[in-house]
Amino acid sequence: MFETAPLNPPDAIFGLNEQFKKDTRADKINLTVGVYKNEEGETPVLKCVQAAEKVLLDLRGTKSYLPIDGMGKYNNAIGQLVLGDELSESANWATAQTPGGTVSLRVAGELVRVALNADTIWMSDPTWANHPKIFAAANLNVQKYEYLNDAGVALDFERMKNSLSTAKAGQAILLHTVCHNPTGVDPTVEQWKELLDIVKEKQLIPIFDFAYQGFGEEIQPDAFPIRHFVASGGEALICNSFSKNFGLYGERVGGITAVANSASSRDAMLSQIKSTIRTMYSNPPLHGAAIVSTVLNDDELRKTWTAELAEMRERIHQLRGDFVEKMQKLAPDNDFGYVNDQRGMFSYSGLNAEQAKTLREEHSIYILGSGRINIAGINSKNSDRLCKAIVSVL
Ligand code: LMR
Repeated sequence: MFETAPLNPPDAIFGLNEQFKKDTRADKINLTVGVYKNEEGETPVLKCVQAAEKVLLDLRGTKSYLPIDGMGKYNNAIGQLVLGDELSESANWATAQTPGGTVSLRVAGELVRVALNADTIWMSDPTWANHPKIFAAANLNVQKYEYLNDAGVALDFERMKNSLSTAKAGQAILLHTVCHNPTGVDPTVEQWKELLDIVKEKQLIPIFDFAYQGFGEEIQPDAFPIRHFVASGGEALICNSFSKNFGLYGERVGGITAVANSASSRDAMLSQIKSTIRTMYSNPPLHGAAIVSTVLNDDELRKTWTAELAEMRERIHQLRGDFVEKMQKLAPDNDFGYVNDQRGMFSYSGLNAEQAKTLREEHSIYILGSGRINIAGINSKNSDRLCKAIVSVL
């Protein structure tokens, strides 16, 4: 029976990570999966998370099921974090807890197809390798809009707008709210305004993927595209994740928020979200959301979190600057200045699949075949070797 199952290729991101683990070379460098690492190359548990876990242990609560849409206090905290104080008071929104951002996107896909009759979703080219697969699995037709300039390292906004010209009313559009994955290239505030006007005029259904709040500029300004759209009366779906900004990768903590134009549409959307969740995974896991809820609902812990998030963001910013400076010295004819303009964990380095392969095979340096580098994986011990190896493949 099982002989009819075809063998799938390894995942474009986690597959390389597995290959890295098997590599026995001592000086190997892993810049693949989007996981934050400190100067020691570790992915630490944040202090606010450790403190919240102590609180939870002392509480000795229950491990009974959560409701289908998850923990109320957690969902309220998401609405406030994503929409801000004013809009979370005035807008008609509902949030459901999901196991990570990935599942929230999958629920969004199901929702726009089943509840809103969308047949197509538009997404940037390039986008996170998992995006097209998630939405294809929800039986949506995936269309790409162009995103980058010819050099593949900065936004070509005119090109982007042109390639959206054939998008039709009722189709969905996936928007990376901040720190575009895989490129690190975000539109400016003015470009966002123009883009969101197009989304509204064309009556597209926006799905904001919000996996990096706090990694761009700061927690509040990073939410600008969502808040601007909602404040101007737009209805939207928001898929957020606490994998990166809380370092809770393995706990799978996220949410889906629907913002509607009326209380009745909000209630209907929540009912649809709940039906989708019930048949997909019944109800969400407890622990990670309890951590986030404990932190976000406590002034002191929230302050600690904000500071720890700023530290991660600033370290990555510093790493970008150091990288550009080093490359400037080693390869003055190649301008890597664009790495400083990109934001978040990732940089589209401009390296191609062949160069990425050479880095892997000859230098035991792992980056994605698309040329995406996880900047957070660079540290003072590996940066010289990385930069020299990149120069050797240019
Ligand atoms: C990434 O892009 O590397 C992360 O978001 C991890 C993942 O699930 O792919």
